[in-house]
Amino acid sequence: MIATKNAPARLGPRLRHLLELCPEDYPVADVGSGHGRLALELALRRPGATVYATEARPGPAQELRRLLGPGSPVRVLEGRGLEPLQGLGCRGAVVAGMGGHTIREILQLSPSVALGLDWLCLQPMQDWEPLWSWVAGSGWWDPQVTSCWERSRVYRSLLLRPR
Ligand SMILES: C[S@@+](CC[C@H](N)C(=O)[O-])C[C@H]1O[C@@H](n2cnc3c(N)ncnc32)[C@H](O)[C@@H]1O
Repeated sequence: MIATKNAPARLGPRLRHLLELCPEDYPVADVGSGHGRLALELALRRPGATVYATEARPGPAQELRRLLGPGSPVRVLEGRGLEPLQGLGCRGAVVAGMGGHTIREILQLSPSVALGLDWLCLQPMQDWEPLWSWVAGSGWWDPQVTSCWERSRVYRSLLLRPR
């Protein structure tokens, strides 16, 4: 198994920032995990804790399983947004690498799951403003805004905890 302390070498600055922002409260889910690298680091950081990685459609979910490989500590789930987390008892979730409109829709479509979490880490690739104004306007969470740089681009992230 790869050592957790080498995580910075395996993640770029954007995902490393997210990993550091995620509270160590598990079970946790990486929603729209894609390549699964963040989910794997979340699992390696706390051996034995439950980490889910989700994908909306069968093709990407199958590719995610292939990339993680057999025996991976990450459990792959298939389904849109926060829907697959219903009833799993997750304490936290990450939604990153999509546009701000998509992340906002994911939260709006499953308010009971979103508000049942102790924390959410959000990091849109673009369209920060519509996500931020909806989150701030909802009054549901205490938001913490952070930022990082990768390849001359700034990425803003949000750590949300329910009020
Ligand atoms: C660009 S990748 C980001 C991967 C990783 N989260 C990151 O930040 O590097 C976006 C992923 O989100 C998935 N996705 C898009 N909409 C989704 C939704 N509503 N629910 C779950 N996954 C979704 C896509 O299939 C894709 O794999």
